[in-house]
Amino acid sequence: MEKLIAPSILAADFANLQKDIELVNKSEADWFHIDIMDGVFVPNISFGMPVLKSISKHAKKTIDVHLMIVEPDRYIKTFADLGANILTVHYEACTHLHRTIQSIKANGMKAGVALNPHTPIAVLEDIITDLDLVCVMSVNPGFGGQSFIENTYKKIGQLKNLIEFSKATTLIEIDGGVTDKNANKLIDAGADVLVAGSFVFKSKEPMETIQNLKTMVNRTI
Ligand code: DX5
Ligand code: ZN
Repeated sequence: MEKLIAPSILAADFANLQKDIELVNKSEADWFHIDIMDGVFVPNISFGMPVLKSISKHAKKTIDVHLMIVEPDRYIKTFADLGANILTVHYEACTHLHRTIQSIKANGMKAGVALNPHTPIAVLEDIITDLDLVCVMSVNPGFGGQSFIENTYKKIGQLKNLIEFSKATTLIEIDGGVTDKNANKLIDAGADVLVAGSFVFKSKEPMETIQNLKTMVNRTI
């Protein structure tokens, strides 16, 4: 399968959001990765519904929403109405994860689960066949621009095994500290989607950076 690149809008220029959204529209990127932080589940607040509404108005690609919030069930329908195509909740924030996943799907979205760096892959054994995506956090969620945690490679391998063993079709997404230095190794380990925030938007030519990443990770396909 073609490997996907999802620029994280958290690292975009919030004073010129439309410009950066158009840039992603025109680029070889596949998805928009949208980080929603509530200041409770993570020690940071990003942006909320009105901003997502404006992003959706201009975004012409899949909108991949990563909820770093407690009690995500309260907002599932709202995010569907705001244009989210994929809704990812944190394993650590969901007491009744199966119910949450069913509700995301019932609202017409693809369902994802994100795992913090300390959360083992094994906790997904009994739900993997219900998941469209697993987001393996390669930094502690809450901030862009952090360094990549090396243990991620091992987790990708374990997740890949679980997906194959269960005959699931779940995509593996990696989020945090992705650069051209680790992209190939992540793909070789089994990743399908790479989120990249700072590496894209803090670069001189974000358009070229996206193109290079996309070409690099699809080199052997
Ligand atoms: C971290 C967010 C990430 C972040 C990635 O909490 O979930 O999506 O924006 O940013 P970089 O690529 O800068 O680590
Ligand atoms: Zn994210």
